[in-house]
Amino acid sequence: MIQPVILAGGKGSRLWPLSRELYPKQYITFPGEGTLFEQTLLRSKLFDQVAEPVVVCNVEHRFLVAEQLQRLNITGRIILEPVGRNTAPAAAISALMCQDEDPVLLVMPADHKLDGGVLNEAVEAALPLAEEGYLVAFGIDPEKPETGYGYLQKGQPLQDGFKVDAFAEKPTYELARQYVDSGDYFWNSGIFLFKASAYLDELKKFAPEMYSVCADAVAGVVSDLDFMRLPHDVFASCPSDSIDYAVMEKTDKCAMVVLENSGWSDLGSWSAIYETGTKDANGNVCQGEVLVDGVKNCYLHSESRLVSAVGVEDLVIVETPDAILVAKKSQAQNVKSIVNTLCENK
Ligand code: GDD
Ligand code: MG
Repeated sequence: MIQPVILAGGKGSRLWPLSRELYPKQYITFPGEGTLFEQTLLRSKLFDQVAEPVVVCNVEHRFLVAEQLQRLNITGRIILEPVGRNTAPAAAISALMCQDEDPVLLVMPADHKLDGGVLNEAVEAALPLAEEGYLVAFGIDPEKPETGYGYLQKGQPLQDGFKVDAFAEKPTYELARQYVDSGDYFWNSGIFLFKASAYLDELKKFAPEMYSVCADAVAGVVSDLDFMRLPHDVFASCPSDSIDYAVMEKTDKCAMVVLENSGWSDLGSWSAIYETGTKDANGNVCQGEVLVDGVKNCYLHSESRLVSAVGVEDLVIVETPDAILVAKKSQAQNVKSIVNTLCENK
């Protein structure tokens, strides 16, 4: 039995100002495609022998999540985090809640585009590895030295996949370039397959405090209609870290199955949105009411007013009713720091 766990508690801060605290990018509807969260829910239903999904999200987004599940007629458990503590605790809480049955968890980020059929085949290939106790990551052939991703170093073949010799989360540009040039590294797609017990054993080893706070939080869970609420004071005391840093970089039980031709894309930053967009003859991607002259390779997005640009290149310009972003496309990841400053000054 596969238990899908959808991690939907991120702020999506690199897509500010479109993605906001109360309405992060995974819940935003793209015309004709639904939301990224809905697309993830649909992918989670594609497997044989699959349980209803578990969604772990922030308490602020509970109605968005419930509404989008309902829109697709999908039932699932919704675990509410009173505060975000990143992905390692979110996965730990899901694993602890089904400890007795010890299923294989398919941990899925809610902010991706990906061909469900390709994922389905890769999960089938990865299942025997996960059942043997490996923590399986899904690798993507890297296109460029992207510093916002994790990197998996391919080791010896292992069943239908490979052993991972090293996992490097968000390296410097220089290291990312070396990894891509070597041909030995894959991007980490952010999707994982592992037995609940295998993940918890590694977490206990490498992040014992996080493990014990999560166990206490699960002991104090309160059911409230369709929601399961984690106790605020306990969960707030949990160390914050991602699965990648807390476990995957440290474990020697990491294996990888490659996602081939999956159309995978983490729409995590404006440069990624630009890459997947339809370009005009000058390489610009324009959304909404936009007028340009002599502009090349830019992403221009207007929500409420006319946006015009003249003679600029390689920029991201995003207009919303109350905020405007202008950034160099190559530095679009750094929007996160603006959001952090805004949060500090709130
Ligand atoms: N429940 C919960 N709680 N979910 C969270 C939290 C949290 O505190 N923080 C983030 N998430 C969700 C996000 O909504 C997203 O769906 C997923 O977890 C991954 O978080 P991101 O913050 O988007 O991670 P990332 O993109 O920087 O890095 C991860 O994904 C990359 C590929 O997209 C890593 O796994 C990288 O190694 C990987 O390359
Ligand atoms: Mg992401």
